[in-house]
Amino acid sequence: MRISLRFLVPLALALGAIAYSVVPLVDQLTLKWFVRDLDIRTKLIASAAQEPLVELLTDNSRDRLRLQRVQAFLNRMLQDERIFAIGFCNDAGTLVYTTFTFPPDIGCRASDAAPEESGHIVKRRGGALYVATAPVVVEEKRLGEMVIVHDMSFIELRSADTKRYIVWLFAAIGAVIALITVVIAELSWRGWTAGIKALIRGQSLALSPQPNAPELRPIARDLEAMVRDLEGERRMRDESQISWTPAALRKILREDLKGEEILIASNREPYVHVRRNERVEVQRPASGLVTALEPVMRACSGTWIAHGSGNADRENVDAHDHLMVPPEKPVYRIRRVWLSREEDAGYYFGFSNEGLWPLCHMAHTRPVFRASDWEYYRAVNRKFADAIRQESRTEDPIILVQDYHFALLPRMIRERLPHATIITFWHIPWPNPEAFGICPWREQILDGLLGSSILGFHTQFHCNNFFDTVDRYLEARVNRETSTISYGGDPTEVRRYPISLEWPPSPLASQKPVAECREQIRLENGLGPAVRIGIGVDRLDYTKGILERFAAIERLLEIDARWIGHFAFIEIAAPSRSSIEEYQSLDARVRTAAQRVNDRFGTPDCKPIILKIEHHDADEVYTHYRAADVCFVSSLHDGMNLVAKEYVAARDDERGALILSQFAGAAGELPEALIVNPYDTEQCATALRVALDMPPVEQRERMRSMRSLIQEFNVYRWAGRMLLDAARMRHRRRLASGARRTSKVIDLRRA
Ligand code: G6P
Repeated sequence: MRISLRFLVPLALALGAIAYSVVPLVDQLTLKWFVRDLDIRTKLIASAAQEPLVELLTDNSRDRLRLQRVQAFLNRMLQDERIFAIGFCNDAGTLVYTTFTFPPDIGCRASDAAPEESGHIVKRRGGALYVATAPVVVEEKRLGEMVIVHDMSFIELRSADTKRYIVWLFAAIGAVIALITVVIAELSWRGWTAGIKALIRGQSLALSPQPNAPELRPIARDLEAMVRDLEGERRMRDESQISWTPAALRKILREDLKGEEILIASNREPYVHVRRNERVEVQRPASGLVTALEPVMRACSGTWIAHGSGNADRENVDAHDHLMVPPEKPVYRIRRVWLSREEDAGYYFGFSNEGLWPLCHMAHTRPVFRASDWEYYRAVNRKFADAIRQESRTEDPIILVQDYHFALLPRMIRERLPHATIITFWHIPWPNPEAFGICPWREQILDGLLGSSILGFHTQFHCNNFFDTVDRYLEARVNRETSTISYGGDPTEVRRYPISLEWPPSPLASQKPVAECREQIRLENGLGPAVRIGIGVDRLDYTKGILERFAAIERLLEIDARWIGHFAFIEIAAPSRSSIEEYQSLDARVRTAAQRVNDRFGTPDCKPIILKIEHHDADEVYTHYRAADVCFVSSLHDGMNLVAKEYVAARDDERGALILSQFAGAAGELPEALIVNPYDTEQCATALRVALDMPPVEQRERMRSMRSLIQEFNVYRWAGRMLLDAARMRHRRRLASGARRTSKVIDLRRA
């Protein structure tokens, strides 16, 4: 109402002002018309009276009798109620005959005055009079002139009426305009506020009935952007207020997701049963993905669907291929999917690791695309989609699809479970459109991924590359402002979720003090107490820059002889994908390079490179981290690289230095590391030297800052953010389907 008044008061004032200025104009105009009428009447009366009046005036009767006759004639003319008085002025300008009503203050004009076209108004107390004259002529001889006095009081009455009409007219117009406007404004306002409320509740404006009005769309867009920003800020604030622990994750599942079903699909399983001679060992694979997701699964239970790749895996599942883990305290379930040797070769070794892996990493290894591999890749993605369908107990579970092995899976799940919330996380880099464009099945891969509800990458750079790629190869609507891509069905949100570690990392619990770890590692490797230790931990993969790392060590020993015999770099390289030729040749080249450096600079007590190409479990790796003065991560390209974060997490003594490749996603988060270009051997050698000479105070400062970042942005936060986004999305969708149901009811009622 207050808004209506704000509109009505100016409207009333404007209309009042217009009426106020129009009334005198209308008054003047009507007066002009009346005066013209009176002039015409004067002429008519005069011409009608001409003949009888001339007759009476030229009558030879006596003056007195003529006076009586003329006055009687004039008084008869007065019967027209609007003629107030008539008089006759003779040629000398003397008023000789008048009706009895003739006002005494009106006289004759000068005898020689020219005949007048129009009369004049005489204002008097009793009302205005209009005085007009008309000559009386006989045979071209002027006898005098008639003075006709009109009563103007009726004109004044009409003028007052007109003023009243005008005021009422404007009042009526104002009322009608106000009524129409208020009704329309009220209706628009209601719709608009409903839209805004819906938006604030988390629905899109498009869902509410009113904002379809085109004039409201720009405002709706601005408002949506504003709400999004506020939402983002609120999310950030909420997130930073949460202390990210397994309990926090469970709380999100309980409160935000109301305990909804969670499924994970990944190629690598978190526990592998391996038979060694007669014994079966349970191994934890060297996989960043497993390192990150396992603690999440422990926190939220659910089912993890993965390839059963261990040679003793089949003996360790129930009739439904299920297995409860972790072995020491089972809390979640693994569902193993079996692949034939051909499927494994085509889908895993072939398309995933000879095609997509080098394609996305761009580490100068040529991707190989075989049509047969692609067929296996599709078939295995389908197999996983079917397994997910079997495992899901509800129609709308939350499914976390992991990595490049399953680019087609999101779309396949969407076909089987249309209401599922599918969060796909791509753990490796996403290249630029030109690089990605060489893949013969690029459109199918993009289409498959866009079956996801949320698609995550480690860095914004990879998100942007993905936007560019979709823009280039698909007819999709890419909205970078809202970070969404619409392609056919529901939009996919593309977001950055930098992966991290559990905090504190569980392998740390069983670790000895740093000095003892160092002692142990020195002992194991026959190193004297003066030897400083470097550490590298990787899968034996060409993207990790192991050869470049060795070249830097060699160069360090060339430029700074202090370290010969006093620096040993332990390289733990877990054998990986070893049936692929490229990996076999890397294995050979790495061994040769280590040998070369050792031959050049080795001393009886200290080999500069201690190469361990074998699997190490997490506890062993953490002991090495704690023992090392420097950790060197030299990836040529890496999605994130968790080794860098693990090294920092392992150093609760706040000592040690980290050298980190600028091409690893982690470099964006850990600027306190010594950031290097692994292709630049000189720079890397200098970094090694700086790291080994770094004063303890500086080590502490850098470590402290990196540790607080990893502590704050740990893996629970990584998973929690995705799950919170999923919860928000599910909430919106439910509101939207509620709104759709309501509008259907309205439509039915209308019909
Ligand atoms: C990278 C990939 C993971 C993969 C891991 C180990 O971290 O992103 O998906 O599991 O390497 O590789 P592997 O081929 O042994 O599973």
